[in-house]
Amino acid sequence: MYFPDFLFRKITLPFLKKSSILLRGIINIQSEALKWMDLSSSLLEFVPRPQDIFIVTYPRSGTTLMQMMLYQLSTGGKIDFSHINEVVPFFDRLLTYQIQSVQDLDNLPNPRIFKSHLSYQNVPKGPCRYIYIERNGKDVAVSYFHFHVSHLGFQGTFDEFFDLFMKGRVMYGSWFRHIAEWQKHQDDPHVLYLKYEDLKKDLKTALYQIIDFCQLDVPQVHMPKIIRQCSFEFMKEHENKFDHISGMVWEKGYQKNAFIREGRIGSGTQLLTPAQIELFERTYSQI
Ligand code: A3P
Repeated sequence: MYFPDFLFRKITLPFLKKSSILLRGIINIQSEALKWMDLSSSLLEFVPRPQDIFIVTYPRSGTTLMQMMLYQLSTGGKIDFSHINEVVPFFDRLLTYQIQSVQDLDNLPNPRIFKSHLSYQNVPKGPCRYIYIERNGKDVAVSYFHFHVSHLGFQGTFDEFFDLFMKGRVMYGSWFRHIAEWQKHQDDPHVLYLKYEDLKKDLKTALYQIIDFCQLDVPQVHMPKIIRQCSFEFMKEHENKFDHISGMVWEKGYQKNAFIREGRIGSGTQLLTPAQIELFERTYSQI
């Protein structure tokens, strides 16, 4: 049967190319999914140590501030990390880190501090401590909306987002359910239940509450620095160390400042092997 060349080029070839990209995508997704299922099932079996501290919140409730407060208290005010998730890992996203297995977590020093947005039902249970932060739900909705627009590509209006938020059709589900579940446990001995608004009003008191709850030994001399470094102004000034996007860049192991790289002539010849150069030249001579 006659099959015009232009039809082959215009329809069949692009179709084949797209299918092969799709197929490769599916295979990749499957292997990622298997890896994810593997790690997630072992995360479900993760048994916390007594020294572990879980910071748990519904998103946009002051999680990053609490990550910073705890890291500051446990290190006497160090800011030696490129991103806060490096020193206070995001438990729910451990798969995307360089951490390949739950065993890798054994190498982290005490106290291991994790951030999580899990519901009470799903958070790993053990003899560890949990610090839960509640924030006014209406403020959370507004903050979560801005986060969706700035970081997740959401293009709807606030009204549309609010509708989804109220129905719990956002990541981590219903704010109301999250809060209600954790509130039931606010008086448990291993739970410190705090409010974002109280942290904002009186950070120093909250820091001492945490010291007391986690039985940390923090020399007084470090306190002024810690208070200063947990301020909104200080964290805003060092936003790269806290932002979700720079966190993802760190998680994936991407390098910063590597895009405008060298701009030199001849580095191709230096790096390529003689066989690679020969293959290149041969292919080039045939075009
Ligand atoms: P807004 O979007 O209302 O500004 P999370 O870390 O859970 O995602 O919470 C983000 C919210 O905490 C944001 O609220 C952010 O501005 C606020 N935040 C971050 N660092 C803070 C700090 N040092 N002091 C007070 N609020 C802070």
